[in-house]
Amino acid sequence: MLKKEQNDLVTQTGPGTPMGNLFRRYWMPALLSQQLPTPDCDPVRLELFSEKMVAFRDTQGRLGLIDEFCAHRGVSLWFGRNEENGLRCPYHGWKFDIHGQCIEVPSEPTSGYCDRIKLKSYPMMERGGVIWVYMGPADKQPPFPEYEFATVPAAQSYMSKRHQASNWLQALEGGIDSSHVSFLHSGSLNTDPLFKGAKGNQYNLSDLSPVFEVAEATGGLYIGARRNAEDDQYYWRITPWLMPNYTVVPPRGDHPVHGHFWVPINDHACWAWSFDYHPTRALTHAERSAMEGGASVHVKVDADYKPLQRKENNYGMDREAQRQRIFYSGIEGIGIQDASLQESMGTIQDRTQENLVSTDNGIIMTRQRLMKAAKALAEDPNYKLPGLDPQEQKVRSAAVLLKRNLVFKEAAKEALQAAPGKPHSSV
Ligand code: FES
Ligand SMILES: [Fe+2]
Repeated sequence: MLKKEQNDLVTQTGPGTPMGNLFRRYWMPALLSQQLPTPDCDPVRLELFSEKMVAFRDTQGRLGLIDEFCAHRGVSLWFGRNEENGLRCPYHGWKFDIHGQCIEVPSEPTSGYCDRIKLKSYPMMERGGVIWVYMGPADKQPPFPEYEFATVPAAQSYMSKRHQASNWLQALEGGIDSSHVSFLHSGSLNTDPLFKGAKGNQYNLSDLSPVFEVAEATGGLYIGARRNAEDDQYYWRITPWLMPNYTVVPPRGDHPVHGHFWVPINDHACWAWSFDYHPTRALTHAERSAMEGGASVHVKVDADYKPLQRKENNYGMDREAQRQRIFYSGIEGIGIQDASLQESMGTIQDRTQENLVSTDNGIIMTRQRLMKAAKALAEDPNYKLPGLDPQEQKVRSAAVLLKRNLVFKEAAKEALQAAPGKPHSSV
């Protein structure tokens, strides 16, 4: 349970808020590369952390993210003409470059007036099929992101995103909560093409009361959930959470590894970014088309990346499938099973009313780490935030059988370290 002030602290990410300032110190996924595929392509509206912006790729192929609204009289530059290295407002023709600098005011061609006009802008970079943005102070810009999914060859990874009508934190809390898998996703474990066949599924389905152990990592936490297995062993599912919003779900057999970024759009909505990658081989055609078709953590979306199964159509609720336990909640699809329940909490869950239990330990510690870091940064702008160091970002999840007397963080240490070409540890 959180006090109201604590809930506000961790859920509010607009300009000037402590969590908003914290998030702005990290490179964050902003757009899929395919959303800005070519020079002078269509601009894209983008709201992040309660800031409304427009992204474009200029004639030279350079990426720009600038204030959505024209400095003249506030027209949305989404209507803009992307031409000759700038975005031109269609109302009176003012033109802005990727840095937000006004480079033309046609009505005042010789006065130098445009030199004095500049819109806010943020740097972007591209890696792993994702366009990333850094929205913090220029002198604090960290090294480029090194998460494993973004650094393997393109043939080995797949990325999707979907809009979620909830605050980012309840989405993250679902991502680090391994205990719901045995209930909510139980119907999908043996049927989803990207889950089925793994021996680990049987441990998930046969032991419904996992014991959680949470271990500190320099960049975040390792959230371990153990379930009983044969021969004096535990089946451990270990989920790394990296500050502030990156999670890697433990793998199943030789299936690809998936994980998420939960990026605030504003306090009432977030982007659920979902990746799948295999550390040592290309994704097969069958895997890739299953992901494109909404299997595993991916979902089918419309042109605005809003899920086809959504609140307006009750997420496709099928009560008969619920009765028959084909889908435990009656909703088809792992990603939408999560989204439907998380959206049902209200856009910002009232954490003053919850009742946490031992399987929520990972969530409790994650909140504590977030609040501690947000407060420390508010007091000291030079505070060293966890998770910014590229070394810290090279973590992976693992699903392993360990002797019962072993400490998971030590026994699985090697398995949790990402390295190029190294196979994942997965039962
Ligand atoms: S409002 Fe954009 S040029 Fe006038
Ligand atoms: Fe889930």
